[in-house]
Amino acid sequence: MADWSEIEALKRTPLTQLFADDPDRLSKYSADVAGIHFDWSKTHLTDDGIKAFERLAKACDLAGKREALFAGEVINTTEDRAVTHTMERGEGNKDDVVVAQGYHARMRALIDAIEQGALGPIRNILHVGIGGSALGPDLLVDALGREETRYEVAIVSNVDGQALEEVFKRFDPTATLLAVASKTFTTTETMMNADSVIAWMQEGGVEDPYGRVVALTASPDKAIEWGVDETRVLPFADTVGGRYSLWSSIGFPAAIALGWDAFSELLEGAAEMDRHFRLAALHENVPALAAFTDLFYTQVLHCETRGVFCYDERLRLLPSYLQQLEMESNGKGATLDGKPVGRPTAAITWGGVGTDQQHAVFQLLHQGTHVVPLEFIGVIEPGDTLAEDHHKALLTSMFAQGAALMKGKPNPDDLARAYPGDRPSTTLLLDDLDARTLGALIAYHEHRVFVNGVLLGINSFDQFGVELGKEMAKAAAKGGGDFDVSTNDLLKRAFG
Ligand code: F6P
Repeated sequence: MADWSEIEALKRTPLTQLFADDPDRLSKYSADVAGIHFDWSKTHLTDDGIKAFERLAKACDLAGKREALFAGEVINTTEDRAVTHTMERGEGNKDDVVVAQGYHARMRALIDAIEQGALGPIRNILHVGIGGSALGPDLLVDALGREETRYEVAIVSNVDGQALEEVFKRFDPTATLLAVASKTFTTTETMMNADSVIAWMQEGGVEDPYGRVVALTASPDKAIEWGVDETRVLPFADTVGGRYSLWSSIGFPAAIALGWDAFSELLEGAAEMDRHFRLAALHENVPALAAFTDLFYTQVLHCETRGVFCYDERLRLLPSYLQQLEMESNGKGATLDGKPVGRPTAAITWGGVGTDQQHAVFQLLHQGTHVVPLEFIGVIEPGDTLAEDHHKALLTSMFAQGAALMKGKPNPDDLARAYPGDRPSTTLLLDDLDARTLGALIAYHEHRVFVNGVLLGINSFDQFGVELGKEMAKAAAKGGGDFDVSTNDLLKRAFG
């Protein structure tokens, strides 16, 4: 296990002092990559800190592991798999890139056929999936599909029937295409929702509802067995993890609703970030620096959470997307060699939309006893057409929050009105929000998660932690299971 003593010995120098001590701090601690400005000058990262992290990265063979990722080596060792989401955007092992491009070509051909009416008069796309099979496409369509899109898209994940019923009220069954998104094609919620959509279509007069289904999956045989014709199965490689899968056929609703050009731009933006991550020296490498900052706060200041606040409505789903990406990837307790990890792993990711959250949770961020490192994300080009004072108010609020959290305001005579300050934040400012910058933004977070995982010595690509709950839920649904007194009582109250 790597030696963390040098990192643990890092000091917290007050942010205002870091600026006072180094007139070049802003230029040293900011960068522009793929249409995004990154500013981590208001964090406690220092030159010494970066050097210590670089030494840790060397000891952990970050460079070698990064190459192993792009080379398509088996780095998800607990599941004996390579990790090939970068190949979906054309970066990495050539054979895997060719496979991904073949699958993309198949998706594109099916989209063209649907557009030409091969499946009838489709106006609505109802996508059912959960976790990584829903959060990514939902984010893409919500962020980029706000102008009129070719199709109306609904993405349903929850097994709570209310989620589907809400869509049934506004969609026409005879004009609906069902996209069943599931890497495994066995997930209870998704398959139950898919069956219910089929029943709704049948009741709505669709003679052959399975003829209106597209399957997005790494388990094509299971999709065919369930009833989807092979020609409408859009596969992706099982080496693409669920929470890394929006680049694959799981991105189908975005590709069909936003158009293939937008989907290609998304992949290209991500590829640009891939190239930066692969080639830039660590002290200039934005995902690596973000991970070093994460690790400073989790390991040195023992911060248990991190907050992501998007000052742009179009990015309102990003915090939930990042929750899965970060917490399912790095919320682990064992190292790659099966030992207890012995230190905190992923921070708990939470957040929301600014300015709303300023009037809800920022009290704690300014004066509470927790230090929560924040990530502010804004967009220079407004997404609205209202008078420009809206956008100005939005962005100035974001900048002011970062400044106020850092500066604070002492008030020794009245602690209730004192602001401790020295609270860290990173700011990401996108030139514009389009498919390309969104692709780069998501890829940046993926690689940041990867660096965190490598330095912590954990496997970021499995998720065994979700299995026990699934097993017990299945047993409970069948009326069995070996439950405790409290759970048995709850089951009895609900089902008699
Ligand atoms: O239960 C967790 C999980 O396996 C996630 O990792 C995944 O994104 C989600 O469920 C959905 O899985 P699938 O795509 O196989 O339906």
